[in-house]
Amino acid sequence: MKSLSLSWVALALTLGACLFESVGAAPSSSSLSTAAASSPAVTYNVAAKPSRQSKFALAAFIETNINSGTDGGLYAETIRNRAFQDNVSNAANTNNALGKGSLLHWTGTSKGTELTLSLDNSLSAALPQSAIVTGQKTDSCGIANSGFEGFSVTKQPYKLAFYARSPTGKPTTVPVEVGLYSSDSSKTFAKQTLPLKLSGEWQKFETTLTPSQAASNNNNVFAIKTQGACNDGFQVNLVSLTPPTWQGTVARPDLAQALADIKPKYVRLPGGNDLEGNNIPSWFNWTNAVGDLKNRPGRTPTWTSDWNTEGLGLMELMDLTEKWGAQAILGIYAGYSLDGKAVPQNQLGPYIQSALNQLHFLLDTTGRWADLRKSYGRSAPYKFQHVEIGNEDWLGAAVQTYGPYRWAAFRDAIAKEFPQLTLIASTLLNGVEGAKAVDDHLYATPSQLFAFAEGMDATSRAIPIWELEYAVINSGLTNDSDIYSGPGRLKHPTLIGALAEATFLAGAERNGDIFYSAAYAPLFQNEGTNLTQWTPDLLSFNAGQMVKSTSYYIQYAWGNYPIEQIHDTSLSTPTNSSHIYHSFGSDGQGHLVAKLINTNAAARDVKVQLGSGAKLSANGAKSWQMKGNDPQAANTLSNPQAVVPQSSSSGLPQGAQLTSDGSLTVTLPAYSATVLNLALA
Ligand SMILES: *[C@@H]1O[C@H](CO)[C@@H](O)[C@H](O)[C@H]1NC(C)=O
Ligand SMILES: *[C@@H]1O[C@H](CO)[C@@H](O)[C@H](O)[C@H]1NC(C)=O
Ligand SMILES: *[C@@H]1O[C@H](CO)[C@@H](O)[C@H](O)[C@H]1NC(C)=O
Ligand SMILES: *[C@@H]1O[C@H](CO)[C@@H](O)[C@H](O)[C@H]1NC(C)=O
Ligand SMILES: *[C@@H]1O[C@H](CO)[C@@H](O)[C@H](O)[C@H]1NC(C)=O
Repeated sequence: MKSLSLSWVALALTLGACLFESVGAAPSSSSLSTAAASSPAVTYNVAAKPSRQSKFALAAFIETNINSGTDGGLYAETIRNRAFQDNVSNAANTNNALGKGSLLHWTGTSKGTELTLSLDNSLSAALPQSAIVTGQKTDSCGIANSGFEGFSVTKQPYKLAFYARSPTGKPTTVPVEVGLYSSDSSKTFAKQTLPLKLSGEWQKFETTLTPSQAASNNNNVFAIKTQGACNDGFQVNLVSLTPPTWQGTVARPDLAQALADIKPKYVRLPGGNDLEGNNIPSWFNWTNAVGDLKNRPGRTPTWTSDWNTEGLGLMELMDLTEKWGAQAILGIYAGYSLDGKAVPQNQLGPYIQSALNQLHFLLDTTGRWADLRKSYGRSAPYKFQHVEIGNEDWLGAAVQTYGPYRWAAFRDAIAKEFPQLTLIASTLLNGVEGAKAVDDHLYATPSQLFAFAEGMDATSRAIPIWELEYAVINSGLTNDSDIYSGPGRLKHPTLIGALAEATFLAGAERNGDIFYSAAYAPLFQNEGTNLTQWTPDLLSFNAGQMVKSTSYYIQYAWGNYPIEQIHDTSLSTPTNSSHIYHSFGSDGQGHLVAKLINTNAAARDVKVQLGSGAKLSANGAKSWQMKGNDPQAANTLSNPQAVVPQSSSSGLPQGAQLTSDGSLTVTLPAYSATVLNLALA
């Protein structure tokens, strides 16, 4: 992800096919009539019977921390810096030491409020800092949080929890008002009075706040304040406010549901670069990402400037994956971090042991680790089959140690105790052996991805390929020599970019005997002013709104119209001259699934005929289509419906018809992706 070049597989394939014209240069409409009477631009002769099983299944990649997409996004927690751990210079810290932190995103609720950060009487070793709120006896005083750039306030029950104690240690009763207010304090949306009976011990207070009215924007704060008891005041930590979550998980409902709707079969977790951390002490140590929140120290963030809370921890991610109906692809830290340092070979032992413990914790039915999992409320082991060792170990200095010792050390230890698991390597370079699959990553312009898709039929069958990060990230219109930093870098997925991703997915499906999966990356983007580090992203959002991108809709189509078996196809016109891409397969229920992507600026007619006299039927046909006139169109929070697909569960879409011989003719609109599910007559 932090790469500045395409990875090795991508590079090899794009260089091999880089003569392909750029999208802007796609042939214009004039030469081909859109009238149905003209001969088809392409005739597809599709074998009546499948030739191969497809292993291809859609994946999602939860790239933790990036774009405030987990803390501040998928994780439903709305309080920012809830345990006073944020530190503006976190990202640059060279260690993961606790005890720094700040009052960032917190303010006093009145002029007289004295707000201090304290290391005294820590709530826990993991959360050593807390805030002390005091003031003049008769004044009001309090503490307000501004959230991840505001709070969305709707008339639903918010769960509030926080820990408090008496700052002096002496027993005292402090009546506080907790509530949601407009930032200028002119409006109160919800409030409740709690008579806090405080002592020297920390106590947890919990209640439900239900706003009596919704706010018209996100410009709101949460506050805890008191009047008349500020002499004693209160000490507070681990303040949590969450709206109703998705299906009993800790996830924000709109984001979690959008992901559920694409029906991923696999979920790769946790990040990415966030698995590695910016330096070795900041690696994802799973033991700190399970159990009571009070005992989770969190860690230095990899992307954001907010402390990584790990509230959306290992079990929370596994639970979500399960609720999405998917299987995890568990990323295991392999002893390399983003500052280019690798754990030396003779010091790798504890990291390998940690990985084994993690797998026992998730997979065992009995024993010490299963007992620990059960104590956290989960008795059944999780079910998953794939483990990826490391992340992008082709990049930077990682490649110098991965093949030479890190890969084999993890491979052997894991294979010995968990022979049933499929171990995915993050590269095959430099001596990597014994991998059962490789995870390749692909960031490209539309035309690079078209070229890649052209080459996919010629992919070596040596080892299954998982493309667990890919996206069109640059328009290609400015010919940037560096697609990551050039002016063509996209802010949001475009129509043509999404179509390019569709051609790649069609290529993966057509070659589903060797391309096992693919995951768009990154999924989530908090659009707040300083909250995004990487664009474009699948789902963009702020505290209250979310928008589905063009790329999202392609994921939706591929997840909802999967194929199980591949039908070989011959073409009257090669893809590299028609600029129309395809995949044909059966859905396991006797239906043919046809996916057709027209990347031309004008409509094209195509014909689909089955071999061996087989016929298609329109009975019970289903279809899905996304199209648009402007290839650069993008859905954004301010223009969420620039491109919206249509689907139909009854009959063929407009422009599609069956001829008397049971063939299909379709007029594919300009810049369109069309999916059809048709019964065989
Ligand atoms: C962040 O931590 C550094 C020490 O690593 C400290 O010097 C700095 O004051 C802290 N900043 C804030 C806002 O707390
Ligand atoms: C992971 O964290 C736990 C708990 O803080 C610690 O005991 C353990 O040593 C860490 N593992 C490694 C390999 O550093
Ligand atoms: C990009 O390259 C193409 C093909 O060489 C050229 O036609 C086009 O003008 C270039 N665009 C820019 C903005 O330089
Ligand atoms: C964004 O970051 C800049 C620079 O650090 C800062 O001045 C600004 O206040 C921040 N804006 C928000 C809304 O956090
Ligand atoms: C286009 O594809 C055909 C095979 O489908 C191939 O023979 C031809 O070389 C390709 N042309 C270009 C310019 O890549």
